[in-house]
Amino acid sequence: MTRVALVTGAGRGLGVEIALQLADQGLHVVLTSRNRDHAQRITDDHAKTGRSLEARQLDVTDQTSVDSCIASVLDSTGRLDVLVNNAGISDGDQQAIEADLVLADQVWQVNVLGAWRCARAVIPAMTSAGYGRIVNVSSTMGSLAWMTSGSEPAYRVSKAGLNAVTRTLAAGLVGTGVLVNSASPGWVRTDLGGPRAPRDVTEGADTPVWLATLPDDGLTGGFFLDRRPLDW
Ligand SMILES: NC(=O)c1ccc[n+]([C@@H]2O[C@H](COP(=O)([O-])OP(=O)(O)OC[C@H]3O[C@@H](n4cnc5c(N)ncnc54)[C@H](OP(=O)(O)O)[C@@H]3O)[C@@H](O)[C@H]2O)c1
Repeated sequence: MTRVALVTGAGRGLGVEIALQLADQGLHVVLTSRNRDHAQRITDDHAKTGRSLEARQLDVTDQTSVDSCIASVLDSTGRLDVLVNNAGISDGDQQAIEADLVLADQVWQVNVLGAWRCARAVIPAMTSAGYGRIVNVSSTMGSLAWMTSGSEPAYRVSKAGLNAVTRTLAAGLVGTGVLVNSASPGWVRTDLGGPRAPRDVTEGADTPVWLATLPDDGLTGGFFLDRRPLDW
C-alpha cells in the first residue's frame, strides 16, 4: 500500500523539497502548482531518481481548481493520505499601522482560506479511510507570543489565522485518524525568505515532513518548529 500525498505550492521553494522528502519516504507525491508546467518541470527533473511523483494544476484560491484536482487524484489513485498546505504569500515591506488592506485580503485568501479550502476538500476521503495527515505550513511570524514587530502584518495575521484553522480542524477530527498540525520551517532561503535566511530548504522541510508522516498515536492540534512545540 503506497500512501499518497499532495503538496500545494510545489513548483518552487519549500514545497518542492517537502514533496521530494515525502517521496524519499516511499509516498507517491502529487506536486501542485498554479501553473502546472512549474510542477511538471520538477517531476521531469527528478524522473530518473526512482521517486514516485506527478504534477497537477491547483490554485488554492479557486474552488473549482481545488475540487477538480482532488477529484482527479482520488479518481486515479483511490486515496489521499497526506495534505501539505504549503502555498503562501506575504505582504512584504509594509507596517500594520498603514497596511494596504487589499493586499491583506489577498494574503488572507491564499494563506488562510486557501489552506482551509484544500483541507475541506480532502477531509471526507481521509475520514472515510480512517487515516489522514494535514500539515499547515505556518511561521513563527504567526506566533502571537512572538509578535513584537509590525512588519509584514497581513502575513503575521494570516499565519495566526492559519494556526486557528489547525486548532479548529484538529478539534473537529479527534478520533477519526486524521491529525492536523502547524509547522514553522524557520527562516529559509527561498524567493519568500530571501538570500540572507540562515536555513536551506532541506532543514526547512524537516518539520513539515515529520508531521506529514506521524504515527497513529501522533500529536494533533499542535504548532512545531524543529520538531518541538512552539508558543502560539
Ligand atoms: N521561506 C521562509 O523563510 C518561510 C518561513 C516561514 C514560513 N514559510 C512558509 O513556507 C511556505 C512556502 O514558502 P516559500 O518560502 O517556499 O515561498 P516561495 O518560494 O515564494 O513559494 C511560495 C509558493 O506558494 C505558491 N502559491 C502562491 N499563491 C498560490 C495560490 N493561489 N495557489 C497555489 N499556490 C500558490 C507559489 O506558486 P507560484 O509559483 O505559482 O507563485 C509558490 O510555489 C509558505 O506558506 C510560507 O509562508 C516560509
